[in-house]
Amino acid sequence: MVINFATVGTGWITESFIKAAKLSGQMKLVGVYSRSEAKARELANTYQAVNSYTDLEQMAKSSEIQAVYIASPNSLHFKQAITFLKHKKHVICEKPIFSTSAELEEAYRVAEENGVYLFEAIRNIHTPNFRILKEKLSMAGKVRSTILSYIQYSSRYDLFLKGEEPNIFSAKFSGGALVDLGVYPLYLAVGLFGEPKKVSYHPVILRSGVDGGGTLVLEYEDFVSTILCSKISHSSLPCEIHGEKGTFVLENAAPISEITYIDSHSKEKQDIGVELEEQDMVYECENIARIIETKDDETYQELKNWSRIVLRITEEARRQNQIVFAVEQ
Ligand SMILES: NC(=O)c1ccc[n+]([C@@H]2O[C@H](COP(=O)([O-])OP(=O)(O)OC[C@H]3O[C@@H](n4cnc5c(N)ncnc54)[C@H](OP(=O)(O)O)[C@@H]3O)[C@@H](O)[C@H]2O)c1
Repeated sequence: MVINFATVGTGWITESFIKAAKLSGQMKLVGVYSRSEAKARELANTYQAVNSYTDLEQMAKSSEIQAVYIASPNSLHFKQAITFLKHKKHVICEKPIFSTSAELEEAYRVAEENGVYLFEAIRNIHTPNFRILKEKLSMAGKVRSTILSYIQYSSRYDLFLKGEEPNIFSAKFSGGALVDLGVYPLYLAVGLFGEPKKVSYHPVILRSGVDGGGTLVLEYEDFVSTILCSKISHSSLPCEIHGEKGTFVLENAAPISEITYIDSHSKEKQDIGVELEEQDMVYECENIARIIETKDDETYQELKNWSRIVLRITEEARRQNQIVFAVEQ
């Protein structure tokens, strides 16, 4: 079965998703939405979508569309997702899925009521390398610490420094480094170790009131997982998971391009990852299409659980630091 889908947002990530969806062979682009008619038509022409829309409600009513990929500014995700869920469209919503847990629970409720699925598009946990890491985690023995990071200087920070307020650095649009980049390493921690006992976040707060970067500390039963994220500096630090018997070194948090296992005693190194497709979003497209097609409730519930935990953590991290989004006021 091929799932007919449409898109919201016309940034580069939408094009990456469209290419990955095509590569999966399981999803077909049939519509695109933009606030601008010219942009909608251009994107539709480039990727051979039959229809372009400037009206979300009209797109939601199309009987041709089965799923919608949402890649708009974070604060808009919820209202847009609800519109499509109510019209019985599956929704694949870019990370961070929503601004609050209350929004997430309401959207899951509406999805269930309408017999459709709601997914958070988070590329790293769908890759074969995440599965390999999860399967081989016990090789490292008792995990004693982790440093997981996503630190990438954003060109939009240059605009911020010039006095502008790009969406991703704005509380109005539910921005900030933790919800934008921190969620990738956070998903790794939650996917591998589950919900932590305690969370503390130590951010660098920008003049807009959101975090430009920060250190998130997750306390588990017998170790601490440290997560670093930033959009205002650069790092080439890999991610590491330190166990008593060995260490996993991940080239990146997203995509998880390479994984090396280093034995604590012999210091012997072993490459345990596989080479990823250049369009690494293909794995999330394949997985999501498979869940929809086979009604794989077990995997769906696991993904829902991870989205819930991640959102609870970022909410708590923001609460501790008075980072308040406009949708909460
Ligand atoms: N998975 C990944 O690797 C990845 C990478 C980048 C971004 N993302 C996620 O994708 C989403 C979009 O990110 P982005 O950087 O592309 O965001 P963005 O540039 O701020 O906006 C994305 C799109 O939303 C529309 N838009 C922009 N401002 C708007 C406004 N004020 N009101 C209504 N619509 C507006 C625009 O489309 P139109 O003008 O055509 O309407 C724009 O192309 C975010 O949730 C982000 O976290 C994910």
